[in-house]
Amino acid sequence: MSGKVTVPRIRAMRAQGERIVCITAYDALFGRLADEAGADLVLVGDSVGNTLLGYENTLPVTLDDIVRHTRAVRAGLGRALLVADMPFGSYESGTEDAIRHAVLLIKNGAEAVKLEGNHPDTVAALVAAGIPVMGHVGMTPQHVHRFGGFRIQGRDNAEEVLQAACRLDEAGCFAMVLELIPGDLAARITQSVQCPTIGIGAGPACSGEIQVIYDVLGFSEKTYKHARAFASLRHQSADALSAYVASVRKREFPTEENTV
Ligand code: KIV
Repeated sequence: MSGKVTVPRIRAMRAQGERIVCITAYDALFGRLADEAGADLVLVGDSVGNTLLGYENTLPVTLDDIVRHTRAVRAGLGRALLVADMPFGSYESGTEDAIRHAVLLIKNGAEAVKLEGNHPDTVAALVAAGIPVMGHVGMTPQHVHRFGGFRIQGRDNAEEVLQAACRLDEAGCFAMVLELIPGDLAARITQSVQCPTIGIGAGPACSGEIQVIYDVLGFSEKTYKHARAFASLRHQSADALSAYVASVRKREFPTEENTV
């Protein structure tokens, strides 16, 4: 599909039954690769904490981290819509803080923000301030301590997750991530809300899918049921680096050819 992806375009894709392909990226290189591959929406996720910054979870990620990575991804994107995650601590204290922090992300290149959990008033305030918002329900990693771990949601609290999704939809979310919830609940939510639903570990009934780019490329150490590696770049990178180390040690590289 050609033409810049916009917020109204994402909504129209649901209406027209087109699949919405979303992926995370954290820098210009991978943002450009995702964009050139045709991803519709690129998310600067707070998963940058686990994937790049070496944290155990997303809680230490700061607004400055997201600003820096948003600027980098912005530099790589052409067509895809750029969404920046609001990190833990940047929106829970009230709508004024949420608007101020979301404005900063927009000023640094984001076209929309995403926030986790059941915060319809905050979503409504951001939308009223002119900032498109993506919701996120189910297993919201910023609530890992409340959940007692990264646990599948919606098995014994399906109604709670459904109600949260409906409230966020009514508050004006332009799209909503459904993370690690049973497929039948994701299907019910998708039928109940107006906005597109974007699944991760939520089955094929959603309007689209989002994945962490390093899982898709096979860079991640762990494998997850909700993901699929479409390449094996961790192993290929390890082999390439070992070959480089060995060839410098053996004086095979550099040669005259590499000499300026
Ligand atoms: O931070 C993130 O990468 C996310 C997606 C996995 C939805 O929230």
